Amino acid sequence: MTLDELLRSRRSVRSFRPEPPPDEVVERLIELAVTAPSASNKQPWRFVVVKKPEVIAAMAAAVREAVATVAEHVPMGSQEAFAAYGDYFTRFEGAPVVIAPIFRGHTVLSNLVSPSLPAELHEAVVVLERDSGLVGASLALMSLLLAAHDAGLGASAMTGPLLAAGRLKEILGVPVSWGIVALVALGYAAGEPRPTERKAGSKVTRWIR
Ligand SMILES: Cc1cc2nc3c(=O)[nH]c(=O)nc-3n(C[C@H](O)[C@H](O)[C@H](O)COP(=O)(O)O)c2cc1C
Repeated sequence: MTLDELLRSRRSVRSFRPEPPPDEVVERLIELAVTAPSASNKQPWRFVVVKKPEVIAAMAAAVREAVATVAEHVPMGSQEAFAAYGDYFTRFEGAPVVIAPIFRGHTVLSNLVSPSLPAELHEAVVVLERDSGLVGASLALMSLLLAAHDAGLGASAMTGPLLAAGRLKEILGVPVSWGIVALVALGYAAGEPRPTERKAGSKVTRWIR
């Protein structure tokens, strides 16, 4: 597949066959993911790979509980719509492998600047360092999705589960200074998802020239 074909044919896969991909294949996907660029080459990523069905079930239960709590605070008229939306937050449940890419911000600048730095710039430093970690790990995540597709696997990135981020971090043993980027459901696709629509690039671009 050319890169063009790979990008255009990737789909978010949410239904999987039960058999897991071999561990070596998952390892190879991660080797490809870590070729991603990152700020100051800090490589602000780690990957927690979950194959234990009872752990995946506990993760899904935590997310379902968070969705139910949020549902109690959604106006009556929007509850049905929220239920349908929240249903997508646990779609990793049927995957034989769930990967949690995790990230942390770096502290290159914030360790360097003195407290006399104006508050606005100090805030900018903090945000840029946190976001740099998240962006770097997200680029690795995209490479992981494309590598999975190229290897004949189906995958989907999901941030809905982060409604239960605190519980997920406990279940997965993620250190407090790290955040979960998303959950990636991974396996052999059961069926072919329909393509989704995109606005044309020209419709979402503004040139300044
Ligand atoms: C940041 C991000 C968060 C997403 N969260 C979820 C999610 O919680 N549940 C889900 O089923 N899909 C989730 N998706 C998948 C999107 O719904 C999907 O990418 C989009 O509908 C376009 O479809 P496609 O990926 O098949 O092209 C997420 C995708 C991204 C990039």
